Amino acid sequence: MLLKPMMREGLIPLPVAFISTISKDGVRNIAPYACVMPVLRPLDLICIASALKRDTLVNIRDTGQFVINMVGADFSDKVIPTARFSPPEADEFELAGLAEKPSEMIDPPGIAGGYAWMECELFKLYEEPQYVLVMGRVVRLEVADAVLDAEGEFDVNKARPLMMAGTHKGMRFCTVADMDHFVPFGAMFANGQDPLAAKYQKTP
Ligand SMILES: Cc1cc2nc3c(=O)[nH]c(=O)nc-3n(C[C@H](O)[C@H](O)[C@H](O)COP(=O)(O)O)c2cc1C
Repeated sequence: MLLKPMMREGLIPLPVAFISTISKDGVRNIAPYACVMPVLRPLDLICIASALKRDTLVNIRDTGQFVINMVGADFSDKVIPTARFSPPEADEFELAGLAEKPSEMIDPPGIAGGYAWMECELFKLYEEPQYVLVMGRVVRLEVADAVLDAEGEFDVNKARPLMMAGTHKGMRFCTVADMDHFVPFGAMFANGQDPLAAKYQKTP
């Protein structure tokens, strides 16, 4: 079947991350964002695509700070309460019945009950007439112990990350399943060594 080029995102299940910010007047804001992409390994940059009319974007421009909250499938009922238009003066933690997880390095709080929290500082904006690409630097990264396996590795079966595939009518929420198929990065190289391995040896 041939599809319109704009349907490209319907064929890429996307993460549904909740971005929390605060306005310059101190109002807490939350919005789900699916256009979220880490920028290569081993960098600490992450990019989100934002439409122009977003309180999230205004707050990031004003404060230079945001939290990317990764959540499980159990958050699917929080998507619409935070995605629906609400005026900038509305506290979206209260609106959606979500509790704060205080941040350590930046002012905007994270969301309690998520499985990972990326505290970000604005790195660069790439501005186009219809959208803005927001590049953030992750200054603190935390994952809930409950979603780690015995070796301390991220376990998608435990986290059940909230994801979404768009159809021409709406959003089909989904999650991922582990295939029990692991390949080390070194397998991509003739000498079997991952040239970036040393970067990943220490955690902060
Ligand atoms: C699942 C889902 C994913 C979304 N992803 C994005 C996105 O990547 N970028 C964007 O600008 N808006 C996205 N939106 C729309 C915003 O979440 C929505 O417009 C929200 O009201 C913005 O809130 P704010 O004005 O408080 O920032 C998404 C909405 C949903 C339901």
